[in-house]
Amino acid sequence: VTIFVPRDAAALAVGADKVARAIATQIEIRGLDARIVRNGSRGMFWLEPLVEVSTERGRVAYGQVKASDVEDLFDAGFLSGSDHPLCLGLTEEIPFLRQQTRLTFARCGITDPLSLDDYRHFEGLKGLEKVVKMAPLDIVREVTDSGLRGRGGAGFPTGIKWKTVLDAAGPQKYIVCNADEGDSATFADRMIMEGDPFVLIEGMAISGIATGATKGYVYIRSEYPHAIAVMRQAVELARKAGILGATVLGSAHAFDMEIRSGAGAYVCGEETSLLNSLEGKRGIVRAKPPLPALQGFLGQPTVVNNVMSLASVPVIMDRGAAFYRDFGMGRSRGTIPIQIAGNVKHGGLYETAFGLSLGEIVDRIGGGTATGRPVKAVQVGGPLGAYFPRALFDTPFDYEAFAARDGLIGHAGITVFDDTVDMLKQARFAMEFCAVESCGKCTPCRIGSTRGVETADRIMAGIEPEKNKALLADLCNTMKFGSLCALGGFTPYPVMSAMNHFPEDFAPVPMVEA
Ligand code: NAI
Ligand code: SF4
Repeated sequence: VTIFVPRDAAALAVGADKVARAIATQIEIRGLDARIVRNGSRGMFWLEPLVEVSTERGRVAYGQVKASDVEDLFDAGFLSGSDHPLCLGLTEEIPFLRQQTRLTFARCGITDPLSLDDYRHFEGLKGLEKVVKMAPLDIVREVTDSGLRGRGGAGFPTGIKWKTVLDAAGPQKYIVCNADEGDSATFADRMIMEGDPFVLIEGMAISGIATGATKGYVYIRSEYPHAIAVMRQAVELARKAGILGATVLGSAHAFDMEIRSGAGAYVCGEETSLLNSLEGKRGIVRAKPPLPALQGFLGQPTVVNNVMSLASVPVIMDRGAAFYRDFGMGRSRGTIPIQIAGNVKHGGLYETAFGLSLGEIVDRIGGGTATGRPVKAVQVGGPLGAYFPRALFDTPFDYEAFAARDGLIGHAGITVFDDTVDMLKQARFAMEFCAVESCGKCTPCRIGSTRGVETADRIMAGIEPEKNKALLADLCNTMKFGSLCALGGFTPYPVMSAMNHFPEDFAPVPMVEA
């Protein structure tokens, strides 16, 4: 019998290690023939620690399991998948999981993240095996045809970026994976690195072969120690197995990679700032052009892609561009791992084809707020994303549809708020966040964000509110069009959406004299 206890940071945070130890103790005391696999998370965070047992019927889930529940579970015969108040039935039948389309996360939570046998058994390496026999241009064409767009947030077509690097001349080209997942409510990159690291390694190797880059780096934020550890071990294993190195899968292609850890600055998620940090310099934004695709890491042609973009490539190369492109709507093709967080009943990762409405995601999948109060606002796309009111819940999850409503999908994290949230405070928070995280290179962001905080404070204090609201809007306009990068340039999204959709929170209640 195999018992699965996640090693994902979200499960560890709620006691998964203690649960695993308690299970090991019971196996020993009872002299049972069972082994524990530390898998990735299935992405249903409200059920963590989610323990699974393999049975003839399939995997049976139990959650939330505490260490103090374990003895009782064994007494109830949970090794044969028996009923128990914590039993959730067959894992695959849990509606949150059953309704998903898992292409990028196909293996996450199912396999042992560090078992190459598991990886191979569940379709791993099939994409790379095809790629080593293909011409670079054909690989790039396949990725372009799949419609894959940058999952870091900007949605730039991945194939076109790769083509730019393929066509660029340079003695050494690089693949840099942006794993500085700094957006609030996002954890997809972390989950895949902890739960299925080989899929990212495979995606990086494919990207290298497609563009002529022989060296790759994964820049992981320092706040992700578990992901860093798993990725380092996985790279070692891949090297030993000949997936990385001078002869990738025995072919004439060379590709190797290293894991680097960041130092905790949000702006290092911006690609040029990340490159500076990777080069050992201060994480300050570089002016574009030149594009990193032409002059990136150490001035050489560099693919900078998000974890999700690279991790989506193996399935595209394995199943073909048409298979992937068939999912989605408009120009948003394939699937998107939506990360549902904040004040929500069912928080977690939900991978689905583009096109689901925001309302379906929040109300049906997320189950509404955890507090049970009405949903007032949802911020989509991290701290630089817009707040959506209920009136816009019909917006489909699609890059263009969100842009048309002055919002962005970003890295697909959504944060739910109930009706107790004060949107003026949220607008102030956006400006404060920008002031704290600004790299300081350009004036609209460096100075504008601090002036923004002060202006929000004046509105809050009821000092000339109309004049200060106009000033705040003017400031947003300057930041949007005058900032060098997305940090200063996108801070206006949360501020302006809060002001436009929730004007009642920006009208201070007049003080009543006693
Ligand atoms: P961008 O639109 O300037 O660039 C997108 C990408 O396309 C870049 O890699 C750029 O170098 C590349 N590119 C543009 N034209 C190209 C060409 N002709 N050939 C080859 N490559 C080309 O956007 P940026 O500043 O890179 O990203 C902004 C986004 O980042 C925002 O939408 C935001 O949602 C997201 N973001 C994500 C975070 C996260 O934690 N994942 C954190 C903060 C922001
Ligand atoms: Fe730096 Fe802000 Fe300017 Fe970006 S917008 S370059 S973070 S000062």
